[in-house]
Amino acid sequence: MKTLLLTATAVAALVAGAMPCASSAIDPSAATVQSQAIPEQATRRADALIARMTLDEKAGQVSQLFMFGDPATFEAGVRSGSTGALLFVTDPAVINRLQKVAVEESRLGIPLLFGYDVIHGLRTIFPVPIGMAASWDPPALERGQAVAAAEARASGIHWTFAPMLDITRDPRWGRIVEGPGEDPYLGAALARAAVRGFQGDHVGAPGHIIAGPKHFAVYGASEGGRDYDGVFVSDSQFYNTYLPPFAAAVEAGAGNIMSAYMELNDIPAAANDWLLTDVLRRQLGFNGFVVSDANGVKNLVAQGFAVDEADAAARSLSAGNDLEMAFGSAANATLADAVRSGRLDVAVLDEAVRRILVAKIRMGLFETPYVDESRTEAVLSAPAHKQAALEAAERSLVLLTNEGGVLPLAPGAHRRVAVIGPTADSVDDTLGSWVFVAKAEETVTIAEGVRRRLGDTVQVTTAPGVQLRRGTPSMFEMFKPAAPAWSEEQARAEFDRAVTAAASADLVVVVLGEGALMSGEGASRVSLDLPGEQMRLVEAITASGKPVVAVLTNGRPLNTAPLSAHVPAILEAWYPGTQGGTAVARALFGDVNPGGKLPVTWPRSAGQIPIYYSHNTTKDAANQGTRYWDEPSTPLFPFGYGLSYTEFAFTDISVGRAAVALGEPVTVTATLTNNGARAGDEVAQLYIHQRNGRAARPVRELKGFERVTLQPGESRQVRFVLTEAELRYWNAAERDWVLDPAVFDVWIGGDSQAPLSTSFTVVGR
Ligand code: BGC
Repeated sequence: MKTLLLTATAVAALVAGAMPCASSAIDPSAATVQSQAIPEQATRRADALIARMTLDEKAGQVSQLFMFGDPATFEAGVRSGSTGALLFVTDPAVINRLQKVAVEESRLGIPLLFGYDVIHGLRTIFPVPIGMAASWDPPALERGQAVAAAEARASGIHWTFAPMLDITRDPRWGRIVEGPGEDPYLGAALARAAVRGFQGDHVGAPGHIIAGPKHFAVYGASEGGRDYDGVFVSDSQFYNTYLPPFAAAVEAGAGNIMSAYMELNDIPAAANDWLLTDVLRRQLGFNGFVVSDANGVKNLVAQGFAVDEADAAARSLSAGNDLEMAFGSAANATLADAVRSGRLDVAVLDEAVRRILVAKIRMGLFETPYVDESRTEAVLSAPAHKQAALEAAERSLVLLTNEGGVLPLAPGAHRRVAVIGPTADSVDDTLGSWVFVAKAEETVTIAEGVRRRLGDTVQVTTAPGVQLRRGTPSMFEMFKPAAPAWSEEQARAEFDRAVTAAASADLVVVVLGEGALMSGEGASRVSLDLPGEQMRLVEAITASGKPVVAVLTNGRPLNTAPLSAHVPAILEAWYPGTQGGTAVARALFGDVNPGGKLPVTWPRSAGQIPIYYSHNTTKDAANQGTRYWDEPSTPLFPFGYGLSYTEFAFTDISVGRAAVALGEPVTVTATLTNNGARAGDEVAQLYIHQRNGRAARPVRELKGFERVTLQPGESRQVRFVLTEAELRYWNAAERDWVLDPAVFDVWIGGDSQAPLSTSFTVVGR
């Protein structure tokens, strides 16, 4: 069998799925690739500075500290040059004050780099990343991250620790909320969009910030879904599943990458030479700087890898981790001694320093170190930002169920509406995690959104009914303590108040799910059930026979089967952000038609995990759905799934040519028609399956998608081009990327179980 082995130089483009493609409007992998080249002049300027730096100043440049507490306590370190970067400062006055010490009072006047977790907005909050992934709309994500960047830069922030590109197939892992979901192809498309949104068209573009894709790599596969625990994946899973979003981000020009906390196959990511140097720099061609995760260098001691902090610092730096992010003090301060004692080659330290100085130079910080504080508020409160957040929230909504077409609701049909549930009127749970700068008064909760939508003539009441509480506290409670637990008496009174409010309404919207800190970092769960007493509340409310529909706010798939036994319609809102309540109300009352699709397979129960659509074909494939005797082994909702208020149909799938030579592109088209009475969006999704070859390949793999808006009765042809980038895979026997001559099945449809298919043959040379 004659096959094609791909050269190492083609690897980065192929991993990223960014080979040239005929139809850029349709295939998101065809995005413009930014220049990776570092301007020569920036390198020369960095080298001139390095020549003047002491070893201690060099160690300082590779040390970044969390700025918690009094800014004055950080001034001495900035002045002496022992701190080169800070994080967690958002007040432009404080940023300017510390920058002034760096620029005017330190020996070499090297400006500080300020980083921050700008994850889904700074003050204007967009849907959480999993929600934006559900939009299947990379341009919407790009617009959102451009707004986030503008607000951050106007506050003096230069760099974000985002996007999180960790593919995960384990919804027990709380950080699923921060990422693109389970699929590498969708993840890669979102990665490109996020990097472009944050950075603009180059590092240093005005009004933009450096993007820092994280956590490199495979953090989303922690054992048991337990945050920070070790990861064991094969090279095949590494290259085919986990790497593509990072490859895409590097190709899009990301200026920074964050190394992950955990060990990958026993080697900690923060000191993993293979990962940070062989893969990231040599195979993917990354030329920005790598930062550790918080305390990731010092952790190497706790991980049983490094002897002490000095050992940790030297080994992490040598492996390719340039900058240490740390609380209190940096282990990297020991690097000066490591060079003096001959343990570390100064060239290794210089290389890391050079990468950080180049970033500062590219960001223009030597010319413009300060932020214009007089502009900040106008940027952060810009009405256009709120409008962008509203549109993004609308596009992230996924209609999970809608029995009998109960949704949309007629706005004039109800006089008394009750919006009930623990997240119905909660600002924090409308916004989600990683939100520290947003304003409560700018946030539209779901209850408030319904109230505004229905106007004064309709009475809208709200009550939480039950309280959501974690079993153990969240680390983020250090920023904002959790509300005190209700007493039993209070819990009874609140429950009764909610049930009474529901009973006296003629429509009930239950808003359920998880509190903002029930997903995110340090927020793993063993169960996917609605937490707490929420189902008891639903049962009490629905017992009255009132019409009830449900909205979910959550960051992970939840088992909604028990809820579906009681309510006919469920709208998935994720944590929809500043304008979330407006978006949800507009969807409930039919002003917008939900068009989002699940970026993750929705399990029936946690016992099915890991469950994902792109599993391999296996023995007894016909019985794939009955692998367990106590529950079907099929998902509750498949990957790519989402309903609409209108009906779409896919017909006429065809391939340009039934047989192509190895490496030649294949065009696949189908007709998409809106057969319903409303305008709406459908996400046309293309999946492939390679029938045989040098490895068993997944039953289906997403290889193209396009979100399309169609008027009632309107038809459109969708067109995808499959190139080497889509047909290749990393082969464990060859230990390389390969393209096999084979028959490929191809499907186009509205989810990963789409039935409409055809096939084509790739013929060997
Ligand atoms: C998280 C990172 C985050 C960093 C800085 C860490 O605990 O894992 O994702 O960027 O803190 O806040």
